[in-house]
Amino acid sequence: MSIIRWKKKYQDGTPLTLLTAYDATMARLIEMSNIDGILVGDSLRHTFYGDSTTVKMTLEEMVYHTKAVCNGVQHTLVIADMPFMTYNISIEETLKNATQLIQAGAMAVKCEVRSSHLPTIERLIQEGIPVMGHIGLQPQYVHESGGYTLKGAQANEKQQLTQLANQLSEIGVFGIVLEKVPISLSKTITDQIQCPTIGIGAGPHCSGQVLVTNDVLGLTPNFSPKFLKTYLDASTLITNALNAFKDDVESKQFPTMDHGYVNE
Ligand code: KIV
Repeated sequence: MSIIRWKKKYQDGTPLTLLTAYDATMARLIEMSNIDGILVGDSLRHTFYGDSTTVKMTLEEMVYHTKAVCNGVQHTLVIADMPFMTYNISIEETLKNATQLIQAGAMAVKCEVRSSHLPTIERLIQEGIPVMGHIGLQPQYVHESGGYTLKGAQANEKQQLTQLANQLSEIGVFGIVLEKVPISLSKTITDQIQCPTIGIGAGPHCSGQVLVTNDVLGLTPNFSPKFLKTYLDASTLITNALNAFKDDVESKQFPTMDHGYVNE
């Protein structure tokens, strides 16, 4: 899927789907499922590295995982997260950092945007790098916000988020992730702006939905927020399979002669 087809699907009113991947194997499976886009999300600091925040993500690590994901796909839109503080220091540095992600194979980047970033985001877009904004709950700013709580519940926050979404739409982002905001707010924003809203914990009125694939597949059994729907109990399936391997080896049922090479 190209950005052009992404926009066309939005204009046609068909909900868009986005899932995370951090390696070629998962990326290939997502492409086989005809999901509209793959996000190389900095959530990989949780799922891949086992950290409690995304703040430690570096540009080098994101480039590494973006290359791996891009090796697994042929035509799916790949969006790479710009890590914390890689799009905040200056326009020049942001352009260089985003270029590294595009040269790693991503077709677009995603940034957790504050109003102070708007000139930088606009410049990226002017230079031909498609940008997805991410507003509402912004995990990269967890140390400032103090937790992963609902955003946009107060009147002033609602007004700020609506204004920021409109400004992002006006400067030409190709989508805005709305994370953990009230359903009524995501509807207001979705109805007002000219680009798709992609919700996570933002209710049914967004133009599309994104989830972390590990959560969708039940690989994070201790993480069960209200917004999540799990489609597989992969933790149980995988541990059962691993136990079966161990049992087979210990009971000498694997390998059999059929699994070996005969030197003739
Ligand atoms: O890093 C990530 O996976 C994300 C999604 C949760 C939207 O930003």
